[in-house]
Amino acid sequence: MRIKELFKNIFMINKKLVVLNQVKDYNPFRDDTFKEYIEWNPNRSKLAAAIMKKIKTVPIKQGDKILYLGAAHGYTVSKISSIIENGIIYAVEFSERCFNELIPVSEKIKNIVPILGDARKPETYDWIEKVDIVYSDVAQPDQTSIAIRNCRTFLKENGFLMIAIKTRSIDVTKSPNQITKEEIEKVKNAGFDIIDWKVLDPYEKDHSFIIAKMIK
Ligand SMILES: C[S@@+](CC[C@H](N)C(=O)[O-])C[C@H]1O[C@@H](n2cnc3c(N)ncnc32)[C@H](O)[C@@H]1O
Repeated sequence: MRIKELFKNIFMINKKLVVLNQVKDYNPFRDDTFKEYIEWNPNRSKLAAAIMKKIKTVPIKQGDKILYLGAAHGYTVSKISSIIENGIIYAVEFSERCFNELIPVSEKIKNIVPILGDARKPETYDWIEKVDIVYSDVAQPDQTSIAIRNCRTFLKENGFLMIAIKTRSIDVTKSPNQITKEEIEKVKNAGFDIIDWKVLDPYEKDHSFIIAKMIK
């Protein structure tokens, strides 16, 4: 088994992206496993797709505090929780159905804090601490402004914004490239440097991913 570390705690085994499985024999999403590693499927996770598309960097590190907007049932959340090891991931989800599926995952993986809440109303979960990264995947037309508002409230100085853009949610008549560039302008105008961005096809059609760093 040849293991290559692409970024801290993110590995490639047999051309598959994997992370370490934190809870032995726990595999809620039925991913492939390779000894102590578990697959991170780029068809199910936009960050995994961005890595497969060779995004320049993944700024997530051990011990990070992360605010994750649009956690759904916790697929990507569970992988990021492995990368940060003893860090914490606050996972916000507003659909009760998804949230109910997230709960058992968070009971097993102890560094996930599930929050039933609306990412448009950061004041409703303002008890959380300041974070190193705001990660947003809410698939809404106003997804960029939702992410920026959460950064204003929770992101530490020089923290990172990681945002998945569902381009079709914004405008079906424009290309994913064009929409992403418009969203990038909004992120820049809000005081961020763009580190890198990728359109995510063929893994995630009509999606892109932006990584930015707060500069003020
Ligand atoms: C594309 S899915 C997220 C997939 C997930 N990030 C993953 O990779 O495993 C988008 C999720 O965002 C949630 N969502 C949409 N708008 C939201 C909002 N305003 N606040 C919180 N969650 C929201 C939806 O209920 C849905 O579960």
